[in-house]
Amino acid sequence: MIRTLSSRIERLKASPIRDILSVAGQPGIISFAGGLPEGSTFPDVGRLTAVQSDLQYGPTEGEPRLRSCISEQLYQRGLHVEPSQVLVLSGSQQGIDLVAKLLIDVGTSVAVESPTYLAALQVFSLFGACYQSYQIDDIASIADTANPALLYSIPTFQNPSSYVYTTEQRMALAQLCDYKNTVLFEDDPYRDLAYEPCDRTPVCSFVKHTSWVYQSSFSKTIAPGLRLGYLACSKDLLPHLVKLKQAADLHSCRLSQRSVLRLLNDDTAGHRLNHLQVNYKMKRDAFNASLLRHFADIATWQVPAGGLFFWLTLRHPLSVPTTALLKPAIDAGVTFMPGEPFFADGRPCASCFRLNFSHTQHTDFDRGLALLAAVFKQYTTKY
Ligand SMILES: Cc1ncc(COP(=O)(O)O)c(C=O)c1O
Repeated sequence: MIRTLSSRIERLKASPIRDILSVAGQPGIISFAGGLPEGSTFPDVGRLTAVQSDLQYGPTEGEPRLRSCISEQLYQRGLHVEPSQVLVLSGSQQGIDLVAKLLIDVGTSVAVESPTYLAALQVFSLFGACYQSYQIDDIASIADTANPALLYSIPTFQNPSSYVYTTEQRMALAQLCDYKNTVLFEDDPYRDLAYEPCDRTPVCSFVKHTSWVYQSSFSKTIAPGLRLGYLACSKDLLPHLVKLKQAADLHSCRLSQRSVLRLLNDDTAGHRLNHLQVNYKMKRDAFNASLLRHFADIATWQVPAGGLFFWLTLRHPLSVPTTALLKPAIDAGVTFMPGEPFFADGRPCASCFRLNFSHTQHTDFDRGLALLAAVFKQYTTKY
């Protein structure tokens, strides 16, 4: 029997996504729950490369050629960083863990969007974050009320809402962090999945004084199983993040790094990305058509300009929280992501939920959404 666990373990909540994904993989279940890319978009495994020397230990910061390639891409996005400011990660989830370890103590004030990525909340809470939530379209509320040490934001195709900040909101957020001397932590894994023209300039590129971390991922555009992402940050933070990464896993998988570098440098990289965008845009539109058929009278939503999710709000309250509907939904053969875990302040948000459109086959959309709508209708309270 374990005698003593660390006190922080009491703050560690099981990720609801993991629990749901374990059911979602069962045969016959149509899953709109996880943020999974469509499997057919993954590169042919024969094109992933390795050489014998990749089996040796490598540098913590990442393979130098990959870091240079990433810094060039960031330059093109408007974020001017040197290769030495890039740290390759074992998935961008690792960046959340490293930044939390670096900046969050018990009681540290952390500003987050309401709603926000639930697995970031899971990590921040483990380290004892004290949250200041703000409505995505009301950045000014933070300016008026709070003085956070860290601000975590997903400005482009946000998870879960798919919201994309306007140019003015991007500038306002950077200004706010400069003014409050708040560290800006920008998470940007969906930026390449754009289906409509919109400003995707990194907010970190507008920062003038304060410390910042920008991160992104190859999970959504190449393959999540490679477990590869990266961060770039202001020079003051880098040595600490490198040491934390060293302490966590020494370095990211060298086979994955070589494969990703090859795919990024491939002549067909642009074509691949374009194909991905066209495919997901078609799926988004087909999903929206099915939503209009089955959810128009019970929920409202915006068509996402990018990313992988629809975020819906029910028109009428439910007699139970959305989490309580998971079991009946699974019994009916379909899963979804309830809204509650995306809210830091735990405010009862029974009326919101997230649906992923990338993973499920076109042919299953309509049947799955019909089943889900029937479950929701059963528990809707109409006044
Ligand atoms: C906003 C956000 N950040 C980080 C991650 C983690 O992604 P990965 O570790 O696969 O790069 C995800 C995954 O869905 C996400 O939605």
